[in-house]
Amino acid sequence: MPALFVTGTGTDVGKTYVCAALLRALAARGHAVDALKPVVSGFDPAALEDSDPAVLLRALGRPVTPQALAALSPWRFAAPLSPPLAARREGRALSATEVIGLCRERAGAAHDRLLLVEGAGGVMSPLDETATMLDLAAALQAPALLVAGSYLGTISHTLTAAAALRGAGVDLAAVAVSESLDAPPLGETVEALARFLDVPVFAIPRGGEAPAELVGRLTPAACARPGSSSDR
Ligand SMILES: Nc1ncnc2c1ncn2[C@@H]1O[C@H](COP(=O)(O)OP(=O)(O)O)[C@@H](O)[C@H]1O
Ligand SMILES: [Mg+2]
Repeated sequence: MPALFVTGTGTDVGKTYVCAALLRALAARGHAVDALKPVVSGFDPAALEDSDPAVLLRALGRPVTPQALAALSPWRFAAPLSPPLAARREGRALSATEVIGLCRERAGAAHDRLLLVEGAGGVMSPLDETATMLDLAAALQAPALLVAGSYLGTISHTLTAAAALRGAGVDLAAVAVSESLDAPPLGETVEALARFLDVPVFAIPRGGEAPAELVGRLTPAACARPGSSSDR
């Protein structure tokens, strides 16, 4: 049941972009992959094709049907707010226990496929009234890929997010810095981050694909081995 939790330093940093690039690259290497983005807020059915689940379905080479979308993202909310607030706007409640249960069930059913689970927002974005994405990351017992932007301020955000993941006992596999618009030079930011972190840090330029070395570290076999990210 290999799974990879793809989390970020915040919203709009490139989690979905990086997930899609990884799904394509892993499939091109012959690995079986699947994706789950359990909770989506800011979901606009009128702009379906731009939604996270649609981007992920296209990366999986699957048609964007209502059924496929509902399976990939069972909890969808219209308001562009943190999931529990967005749920409340619709008179609905979001239960971390249910979300975690579904993620574990899907990971268990994935067999030798690698299931990429994209979180919503950042590492400690709320999942319900009392749990954050960090609780989901820890409960999944899967390695995590931390996606960061390259905007000014990302170094502190990334180190803080990495420390939080580590503190919760999550195995941080790598950091991927997806180039933000109007940002300081990408290479310099990656270099600076790498000096503070003991996991590999990868640069993903605008429009770039997943680096081969990153893909090699995130194969189904690598993600199935507990502590795999530390044997570098
Ligand atoms: N490296 C990149 N190259 C080109 N566009 C990117 C890159 N990273 C992110 N984007 C774009 O920035 C926007 C936000 O990225 P997204 O992956 O949706 O963020 P998140 O999933 O973290 O909220 C999207 O339109 C996405 O296509
Ligand atoms: Mg996303």
